[in-house]
Amino acid sequence: MNPLPIRMVVAAALIDRDGRVLLAERPAGKHLAGTWEFPGGKVETGETPEAALIRELREELGIETEASCLAPATFASHAYEHFHLVLMLYVCRKWQGTPHGHDGQRLRWERVNDLFSIDMPPADRPLIGTLAALI
Ligand code: C5P
Repeated sequence: MNPLPIRMVVAAALIDRDGRVLLAERPAGKHLAGTWEFPGGKVETGETPEAALIRELREELGIETEASCLAPATFASHAYEHFHLVLMLYVCRKWQGTPHGHDGQRLRWERVNDLFSIDMPPADRPLIGTLAALI
């Protein structure tokens, strides 16, 4: 049996001045559509995780940040049906612009302790406890 391919994904816990965290809804037609994720996406070949996250935040939310504003927080790995996901989460408190869903995806700001009861992708859920202890 072939091992599952590994997919590296980076995501951000964007924290606002009130200590709330931004979640983005996964669009219809995509894997896990309708769940609320820490925004981010795949690390492309040859990219550093930080460069990938800066690009994803620009493409998905229209905001700009820089590597020095991305603090590695925690990671998780999860075996989805067709691939094994390694998800790295960064805390980000400083960016330029106002996040908005570039592809029309809905956004919401939530207190970290409220994330436990939100329908998040299975790879994201194990990150909540560590994030709650950090912020
Ligand atoms: O967003 P994109 O489709 O590029 O993400 C690649 C994969 O990573 C998807 O299968 C998605 O479900 C997963 N993912 C996740 N948690 C995130 C971001 C992406 O499980 N915060």
